[in-house]
Amino acid sequence: MTAKRTAILISGRGSNMAALIAAAANPGYPAQIALVLSNQPLAGGLKRAQAHNIAVAIIPHQGKTRSQFDAELDATLREHGIELVCLAGFMRILTDDFVRAWAGRIINIHPSLLPAFKGTHVHAQALAAGVRISGCTAHFVVPELDAGPIIEQACVRVEPDDTEASLAARILAEEHRIYPQALRLLASGRVRLEDGRAVFS
Ligand code: GAR
Repeated sequence: MTAKRTAILISGRGSNMAALIAAAANPGYPAQIALVLSNQPLAGGLKRAQAHNIAVAIIPHQGKTRSQFDAELDATLREHGIELVCLAGFMRILTDDFVRAWAGRIINIHPSLLPAFKGTHVHAQALAAGVRISGCTAHFVVPELDAGPIIEQACVRVEPDDTEASLAARILAEEHRIYPQALRLLASGRVRLEDGRAVFS
């Protein structure tokens, strides 16, 4: 089976991107990272991607409507023959039209055990709620934010002296472990989106 041409969308440092690139370098991994795309020209992850000789694209979002931005995004993904999309710290809300066009082929990593703690300031939300366990979730992207069918999760103990930073760091290590697993499941056809559910085979 040919490895699926995959794009990673980032807005920042790209540590999850780096974990996906490292996984895809293994022989037999069912996805190849064919493009890293950012809305932020200064995203640290872009340099890391270039160091791996991966094509990069920058689509600034300033001065564009969401539809204009997403149309450019869609065109760029198609130009590069992209089959799968991984959001990895991509801090843009995508239009329903874009998400529907890529349904079943676009996934995200989120630093909480969804459906708990959607949106931003996730670790602050977890600490404020007093949960003893948090974690991370890899899921299909659907129009509703952070609500897509779950592909993979990992949990992390919340310690009494945790700060947002200490909790984020422990969860990030788990993100780096499960996101490549989720992409492997998707790219190998062992999980698919069917009638709004993740179906495993
Ligand atoms: C990660 O923790 C990711 O889960 C989070 O942003 C961070 C990006 O870090 N994403 C979200 O909060 C999306 N809702 P990275 O650039 O080092 O991968």
